[in-house]
Amino acid sequence: MEFQIDEDITLRLLRSQDACALFKLVDDNRLYLRRWLPWLDQNTSLEDSKDFIASVLSQFRADKGFACGIFFAGDLVGVCGYHEIDKVARSVAIGYWLSEALQGKGIITRCTKFFIGYAFEELGLTEVRISVAEGNAKSRAVCERLGLSNEGIEIDAACLYGRYVNHVCYAMSKDDWRREDGDAGKASNEMKPPGGPPSRKLP
Ligand SMILES: CC(C)(COP(=O)(O)OP(=O)(O)OC[C@H]1O[C@@H](n2cnc3c(N)ncnc32)[C@H](O)[C@@H]1OP(=O)(O)O)[C@@H](O)C(=O)NCCC(=O)NCCS
Repeated sequence: MEFQIDEDITLRLLRSQDACALFKLVDDNRLYLRRWLPWLDQNTSLEDSKDFIASVLSQFRADKGFACGIFFAGDLVGVCGYHEIDKVARSVAIGYWLSEALQGKGIITRCTKFFIGYAFEELGLTEVRISVAEGNAKSRAVCERLGLSNEGIEIDAACLYGRYVNHVCYAMSKDDWRREDGDAGKASNEMKPPGGPPSRKLP
């Protein structure tokens, strides 16, 4: 399971041999990731990263979705993927994180765009959701850049180390996605630039 997103970015299903690199990445970015992700205190050893990878592989084998390591110029720099697919609702949530140093290059926007397209075109799903803490401006910007709709606020949706945060529920339907991009857009990797005029090409 490997996807070349562009000349710099590859998405690949994590494997057990990635555990050391994954744990180092988490550990090096612990304080920064802890601001918005709830699992840092449950990931404090190499064993925890091995367990995470095992859970990703078991999700994949059970045909319930998958998550990939994000490789930028060959190095593991983050994770992006599906939470467990809701096959009845034909819906899936996407999650992601990236090392602090690699922010600001559009990496997550491009990876998330890929996962949205794959959900609709390859997995036959009809809705993609991304749930983001209200104050997480960078993650909200990813959703808005990709044209997901703000469907409302879920109050006290998550507890981050004793602090409850509201979530903004973003969603995109397959029909919205087709309207947003059109078939030609999907093929040529087009998207809206952040906050800018509607020129539609990724650099
Ligand atoms: C949320 C998170 C993934 C966002 O990372 P990010 O780097 O801001 O997002 P992208 O990789 O899509 O990059 C977008 C930035 O690159 C810029 N950019 C450069 N080239 C770009 C391109 N080709 N396409 C889109 N954006 C591009 C954008 O202008 C934007 O910069 P800005 O923040 O200065 O406006 C990251 O902050 C993170 O991992 N945070 C901690 C964990 C977390 O919050 N996870 C999400 C939980 S819901």
